Order: sequence, then structure tokens, then C-alpha cells
Amino acid sequence: MGMTGPHRIRVMYSAEQVAARVRELGAEITRDYAGLDLTIVSILKGSFLFMADLCRQIDLHLACEFLGLQSYGDATTTSGVVRITSDLTRPIAGKDVLIVEDIVDTGLTMAYLQEFLMTRHPRSVKLCALLHKPERAVKPITIDYLGFTIPNKFVVGFGLDYEQKCRNLPYIGEVEGVAGD
Ligand code: IMP
Repeated sequence: MGMTGPHRIRVMYSAEQVAARVRELGAEITRDYAGLDLTIVSILKGSFLFMADLCRQIDLHLACEFLGLQSYGDATTTSGVVRITSDLTRPIAGKDVLIVEDIVDTGLTMAYLQEFLMTRHPRSVKLCALLHKPERAVKPITIDYLGFTIPNKFVVGFGLDYEQKCRNLPYIGEVEGVAGD
């Protein structure tokens, strides 16, 4: 794959650093949603590892849902045009929904998604993102629970891919020589 050629991956956040932050986020979410009917919605594919770790750090009676999204664009950019590849299995009307996303880059995907979910009349929709690249913001997005703010670098691992590869790296790594834009 391309990654083994000219690209080198530099560790940005180790597995231990990610795990520590995920524990903190889980504790915050547990506090904020105590007594509520929480549904967490993992956006596939990028957030599957974050979701797996995060949900085990939330001490609540919650439901897990998955929403498959594919955004049109090349390997490192988003067009904002999003296709739903796999829908939720249950209605979310009246539920408190927490979207679990890997990264908010331009914000185009999240803007589309929040609008899409609102049409189903949830009681509330909040967002938990592992990473945020504020320098790239096109649409303003409120991130209620954020793992790390990162510079404009292309990152892989912990669920994030480069041309579908590297999702399985246990850490978050910066791909050297690939700009975020
Ligand atoms: P946005 O619509 O520009 O905010 O892009 C969101 C999606 O683009 C994310 O859910 C990722 O799938 C992908 N993406 C953006 N930046 C990166 C990155 O640095 N590494 C891997 N995927 C990324």
C-alpha cells in the first residue's frame, strides 16, 4: 500500500494517551446523561474503535447504533456530499442522541449529518469527536465532547484511514508528507 512507500507515520497521540482521554470523556458523558435515555450513534467507518472504547467508559444504560457514511472526495479531502451506506436500526424520536465521530475537519460531513438526524425528531443531538482540526473549518460545528484539537495534519490510526488502510493502528499518527488539505 502507499503508506509503506514514501510515507512515514509519526505518533501524535499514543495508545495510552488516547485511552486516558477516552476515560475522561466517558466520565463526563456519564455525569451529563445520568437518568436520560441515551443512544450513542457511531459514524462508520472511522469511529468504530473510538466507539468501542468510549462506550465501555460510559457507565449508563445506553443503546448503541451505527450509521454508515461515505463522503465523496479523494483520499484526503471531503466534498461535503455524503451518502448513507447503512442506516440506524431503531427510531431515535424522543431519544437523547450522542453522535460519536472520529474527526471534524471542514465540518461539512457533520453539518449534513446533524440536519439528517434532526429530521427524525430526537429529544437532543450532541456530538462527541475524538479529533478536531479547527484550521480547516468551513461550517461552524459545536463539539460537545472533544478528545484532542490537532493542527492541519493528515492523521491515521485508531479507526482513521488513508485510502482505507491504517485504521487498525493502536495510536493516532501523523502521515508525513500528506497535507491536511
Ligand atoms: P469533514 O466533512 O471535512 O469534517 O470530514 C470528516 C471526515 O473526513 C472524517 O469523518 C474522516 O473520515 C475524514 N477525515 C478528515 N480528516 C482526516 C484525517 O486527517 N485523517 C483521516 N480521515 C480524515
